[in-house]
Amino acid sequence: MKKERQPAEPYRIKSVEPIKLLAQREREERIKRANYNLFKIDAADIYIDLLTDSGTAAMSNKQWAALMMGDESYAGARSFRHFEQTVKEITGKRFIIPCHQGRSAENLIFSTMVKKGQFVPNNTHFDTTRANTQHKGGLPIDLPCPEANSDEASSFKGNMDTRRLAEFIARHGADNIPLVIMTITNNSVGGQPVSMRNIQETAGICREHKIPFFFDCARFAENAYFIKRDEPGYADKTIEQIVVQMFSYCDGAMMSAKKDGLANIGGFMAISDEELYRRLTELMIIVEGFATYGGLAGRDLEVLAVGLKEVLDFDYLDFRIEQVEYFGKKIKEAGIPIVEPTGGHAVFADAGAFLPHIPPDQFPAQSLAVAFYTEGGVRVVEIGSLMFGGIDPNTGEKLTAKRELVRMALPRRVYTNSHIDYIAEVAGKIVARKDQLQGYKITRQSTFLRHFTCDLAPLAPEKIKVG
Ligand code: F0G
Repeated sequence: MKKERQPAEPYRIKSVEPIKLLAQREREERIKRANYNLFKIDAADIYIDLLTDSGTAAMSNKQWAALMMGDESYAGARSFRHFEQTVKEITGKRFIIPCHQGRSAENLIFSTMVKKGQFVPNNTHFDTTRANTQHKGGLPIDLPCPEANSDEASSFKGNMDTRRLAEFIARHGADNIPLVIMTITNNSVGGQPVSMRNIQETAGICREHKIPFFFDCARFAENAYFIKRDEPGYADKTIEQIVVQMFSYCDGAMMSAKKDGLANIGGFMAISDEELYRRLTELMIIVEGFATYGGLAGRDLEVLAVGLKEVLDFDYLDFRIEQVEYFGKKIKEAGIPIVEPTGGHAVFADAGAFLPHIPPDQFPAQSLAVAFYTEGGVRVVEIGSLMFGGIDPNTGEKLTAKRELVRMALPRRVYTNSHIDYIAEVAGKIVARKDQLQGYKITRQSTFLRHFTCDLAPLAPEKIKVG
């Protein structure tokens, strides 16, 4: 299915939001004032923001129209019925519970299902699923396939290692495993997809041991696109058919709809077990809201009912995934190595390989992230020893990151290919002065999730030339 040329955006622009590039001198002043932590820079001072693809999508004309149709009744609103119907069509589950974002679904599911000391295997936990499992006393277990963290350019690097899953269950017993989760796509290993075959195999193992099998499906439509494109036997199926088949293998799902819901807020749980539904909604009313609005406004539910259908459009997904691939190609051509193949929602630059003169404890990926801002006003995020290193707050163990990466996540329907070309030019300028990039040290940090709030300082005098 290789195309002759990069597809153009399958939409035209109806509403615009101006963005402004500050002068280099101002950018240098801003980053210094933020103590070299990009989370502390005001969004108004960013030109292109690739911090996350979560809650940052542009809504369509149909979604804006739907917003005005929001029914704000407390219970049983018409907007809830629209939302419920859409999610039922996608997931095939009997009970649909809205919630305000992914981590609130995680909190409710784990509070209801996980007991202290139990194991929760996952192809790889996202940070919040890991933290929510631990918060309930559960032990998150990552079982990515062997290719996941290698340089091998194979398809479906997001898969679960089913052999290790079977061994893990045999060793620890099904009674100690309240659920198995499949993260679709696998965000923490680069937004890599999971194959239908791997979903089927994992479901088979769970069924054999009577362990509930759940999806963490923030990017389920992007995953379906990869199945259609790369998995034998699916090229002639529609995205809807693939999505319905994917969900037919799981017992339940939790979703951060801030990604493939094409909305700025929202999430849901979809389950078939009536007893679990009853327990979830009991807790739900205490912490989130009544079961038919889940902390959202009626208008949010209307927007999601439309967004969750729009995301299944082949042309949209084709452009989206190809845009990420094009972005990766341009960054690589500029001279910064990337994780290959590119996944669904982001390009991951390999700062460890790019800046071998900066050791991991001087945060090479943070150095690259700061350079993207000072050189071009582009905000990206460090995914390396600043995020994953330090001391484990529970065990006191010294932690190191597997790789020193920078994530450049693409918001949906927001940036055009000429923005991508601009970022590649910025990458080229960074490459030209890569030997001048310096390491950083932490001057202040918190115990948990330090990367959000810590202060840093450069280890050598700033040699950036105003260009
Ligand atoms: N699961 C996955 C796979 C995610 O990527 C995220 C969020 C969540 C759950 C939590 O959802 O933010 O709605 O509470 N990922 C964002 C990111 C924050 O930038 O990757 P949430």
